[in-house]
Amino acid sequence: MSQKDNTIYITTPIYYVNDVAHIGHAYTTIIADTLARYARLTGNKTFFLTGTDEHGQKIETSAAARGKSPKEYADEVSGKFRALWDDFGITYDRFIRTTDEEHKIGVQKAFQKMFDNGDIYKGNYEGNYCVSCETFYTDAQLLDNAGCPDCGRPTTIVKEESYFFALSKYQDRLLKLYEENPSFILPKAKAKEIVNFVSGGLNDLSISRTSFDWGVKLPASMNDDKHVMYVWLDALLNYITALGYGDDEKNMEFWPANIQLVGKDILRFHAIFWPAFLMSLDLPMPKHIAAHGWWTRDGEKMSKSKGNVVDPKEIADAYGLDAFRYFLLREVPFGQDGDFSQRALMDRINSDLGNDLGNLLNRIIGMSGKYFDYKVSSKDVLKYHEKEMKEVDALLEGSEEFLYHLQINRFLEEIWKVLTIGNKAIGDYEPWNMMKDGKTQQAMALVALITNIMAKVAVLLKSVLPSKVAEIEKSLGITVDTQSYISLIKNKELISDTTITKIDALFPRIEEELIATAVSSSTVTETAKKCCTSDTKEIKVEKQDDANLITIDQFFGTSLKIGTIVEAEEVPKSAKLLKLQVDLGEGRNRQILAGIKEYYSAESLIGTQACVVANLKPAKLMGMLSEGMLLAAKDENGLHLLRPEAPKKSGTKVS
Ligand code: MSP
Repeated sequence: MSQKDNTIYITTPIYYVNDVAHIGHAYTTIIADTLARYARLTGNKTFFLTGTDEHGQKIETSAAARGKSPKEYADEVSGKFRALWDDFGITYDRFIRTTDEEHKIGVQKAFQKMFDNGDIYKGNYEGNYCVSCETFYTDAQLLDNAGCPDCGRPTTIVKEESYFFALSKYQDRLLKLYEENPSFILPKAKAKEIVNFVSGGLNDLSISRTSFDWGVKLPASMNDDKHVMYVWLDALLNYITALGYGDDEKNMEFWPANIQLVGKDILRFHAIFWPAFLMSLDLPMPKHIAAHGWWTRDGEKMSKSKGNVVDPKEIADAYGLDAFRYFLLREVPFGQDGDFSQRALMDRINSDLGNDLGNLLNRIIGMSGKYFDYKVSSKDVLKYHEKEMKEVDALLEGSEEFLYHLQINRFLEEIWKVLTIGNKAIGDYEPWNMMKDGKTQQAMALVALITNIMAKVAVLLKSVLPSKVAEIEKSLGITVDTQSYISLIKNKELISDTTITKIDALFPRIEEELIATAVSSSTVTETAKKCCTSDTKEIKVEKQDDANLITIDQFFGTSLKIGTIVEAEEVPKSAKLLKLQVDLGEGRNRQILAGIKEYYSAESLIGTQACVVANLKPAKLMGMLSEGMLLAAKDENGLHLLRPEAPKKSGTKVS
């Protein structure tokens, strides 16, 4: 993406409808949303596409397993993706579904054109297929146990009549594309893998299947009704059918795309098959295929069977959507794998968002209110603070370059350097002493310097933190739009005189004890979390909806046992914690820290029993190890531990 482009087209992958949205989907979508918002803010005509990938054997099988027709099932899951993005305020211009009629028409037109260009021929396919990855593999590519090299699941042998795309023909043109456009694949380090793969030779690609029929039919002119198209051909073409390719061509002015975001696992499809299809269609190449890394949770790979998949809605509801957006964009350099933990998220909230950003706004509100009845004038900023202002403008101007190159974490780092200049200036100039010494003009210049810093930062942060910046706008009496972008960032101007409005803290501090309690429950499912001992006032978890339903296997991923509390004492300096020694029939007691001090005295617990989550990863609370969690229910009548109706042996399984 570059500032000089006047149309900007940004895409996410289209998500399979056999799964609910998780942090990986949210990550790509939030990056794309941030870039699209920024492109619009900077005055570009922008088209942002996302959607769902609904055909293929995997979806057909998943639907059948639920006793639903593929279309019924796809409608349901696609609707959930869309509802989540709407809930998140994702500013897509089109949400495409591969079951959309216009998409199917466009795909058939594209097939016909590739055929007319001599790139499609009929043959027989015999080889290995992984339904989960919807990918063909040669024998040499399989793992030793004949498993899929990408997901490890068993592959099946497919032997059927098939149409082929002459991918091998495109080997040289693809290599030339990579060579002439070194930033076609981003990050550049990833390009090497692709170049090596293509240099090793390409097989023609099987692009139709006959053994199931949930897919786009071949064009009628092919007169071959038993074939449906290979799901990746159908899916990749969404990037042009969404613009009207083969139909009304309404938005084809946006092609070629500027940035096509993908996860590293699907880079091969986008960096090899996709450009080859486009060459066959005589269409220009996208400018960048940008591959991001994978998220793990608390250091572990996420999987449905482990029940540790991060539900983006749960996190956004508990910690705030903007904080979640910031965390995803700030925590991990684009292209690298990242780890999600509530601890890391809360640290970012308390430190970057609360201390550096929120606190600076608070100081503006405090100083302007106390000294100047909330009025701020930029009149003398340059007289007293030209040096700081120049430094701020230069940093902000430079930060944009990082965004264009998808180094969003670096972009944010530069903005935070500017916030540091603001926070430091207050300490250095001590406006309270200026006021004491009657230097009102200097004090006003300082308050205005900080207000201008905040206004400029708000402009650049608007795409990352849309709702919180809306609050900053309200407080500073400014509007962030293309005009203010041009005046404050491009032309380095100052804001007009303004009146500050008092607002609530942008990012209230999350208390250490709450962090600890929330972290200790991070690997349990939402159902368990709702009845755990964490304080639900601040870390609230929304009502469970269908998207959050868990399987019985996931439920049994949580080991619940009856524990006997053998010792209990108060944790000094903690308003909430009790330190318990709990017998789970393991030959040693477990130390568990529970946030129940307001409801139970330590002695009253000794000798009693409670239901314990026994397979929680140990966590440190206030520097002490906690090796489990007690279950409790809390309502307006207080909190009560969940206990067996009659005494049970310590360690008895709860099911
Ligand atoms: N339907 C295909 C894409 C077709 S695009 C023409 C597909 N869908 S998917 O739903 O399985 O995956 C969508 C995206 O989610 C991929 O980019 C994938 O990399 C990403 N992620 C899946 N799990 C992920 C993580 N744990 N972390 C980050 N992203 C991950 O593939």
